[in-house]
Amino acid sequence: MISHHPIPITDALTLKGNLFLAPLAGYTDVPFRQLCIEGGADFTYTEMVSVEGLAREGEKTIALLPRAKDEKEYAIQLFLGEPASLRAALAIVKEYRPTMIDINAGCPVPKVTKTGAGSALMKNPPLIKEIIRIIKEETGIPTSAKFRIGWDQESRTYLEFADAAIDGGADLLTLHARTRAQGYAPRADWEYLTTLKTHLAQKGSSIPLIGSGDLFEAEDAIRMLRQTGVDGVMFARGAVGNPVIFNQTKALLEEKEKPLLTATDKVNLLLTHLHALAGHYDEPTACTLMRKFVGGYLKGMPHVAKVKQAAVQALTIRSYEDALRHLVSSEDRI
Ligand SMILES: Cc1cc2nc3c(=O)[nH]c(=O)nc-3n(C[C@H](O)[C@H](O)[C@H](O)COP(=O)(O)O)c2cc1C
Repeated sequence: MISHHPIPITDALTLKGNLFLAPLAGYTDVPFRQLCIEGGADFTYTEMVSVEGLAREGEKTIALLPRAKDEKEYAIQLFLGEPASLRAALAIVKEYRPTMIDINAGCPVPKVTKTGAGSALMKNPPLIKEIIRIIKEETGIPTSAKFRIGWDQESRTYLEFADAAIDGGADLLTLHARTRAQGYAPRADWEYLTTLKTHLAQKGSSIPLIGSGDLFEAEDAIRMLRQTGVDGVMFARGAVGNPVIFNQTKALLEEKEKPLLTATDKVNLLLTHLHALAGHYDEPTACTLMRKFVGGYLKGMPHVAKVKQAAVQALTIRSYEDALRHLVSSEDRI
């Protein structure tokens, strides 16, 4: 039976639910995470944070670490290609008391993989064991890994990788069901989630497995939970422009009607987000960052070309408000 349920991690930690917000570089900053928590996210992740940047005490890197206002539980996600700087980085991470430390073994960006980090870790499963062992020894904080199927079709190391992470002491695993070579398309193959879940059960491991890949609507999450047996789902692109996707999923899991948003609701969410960004950064920065989210909020709405065009130049909240005004008269539920 699929349900909205807590996820036990250790004797001292149980996550309150199984609907997660993914780490998304350039998106899951404090304002967006706060909005997703208000929209029902049970557990959230920072953007990926460079271990090397932390070890150098880089200001911009350290700025990624704090939690959002209502973020009682969150993971700080780290990326690294080798552990030399890890202890120095952890000394800083510890100060923020994250609920979990997650290791990125999925990023396909060459700038990251050429240092051995992100999805390049998939080529060297023993290294994840070493990394997790160091984190647990140094911090005592529950630790997880988020990984892909493998580097490419010829090198699908996810089972070996999961085993190595568990040997190192991992407390939770997340699989993005694509290879590094696939990037973010074509479709994720959820069969790999089923295979990994079965593999873990055969090993007698009860480590929670979270599924990622192509969760664009609440209904997708229901399908993933039903088809694969994963313990929880992690929304990524599906939450961008729809931070209430978590509550929508919760409603479906409770066999209630999915709460739909009107055009006015969407515009209000967009403006709430914009104001939150302005509170965290400054107004021009907020307006620039908002450009990435506008398409998501306005998806499915008619007459939005003008707003998108205005967003490309907008540097004030006022100009967003002016551009959005004509959209709020429509009460169509979308
Ligand atoms: C713009 C963007 C940024 C991402 N940044 C991260 C990241 O910092 N760390 C990470 O583990 N995954 C990152 N991912 C991967 C997502 O967390 C997720 O696993 C992936 O998008 C698959 O889910 P989806 O198909 O539902 O979007 C990123 C994905 C995108 C599209």
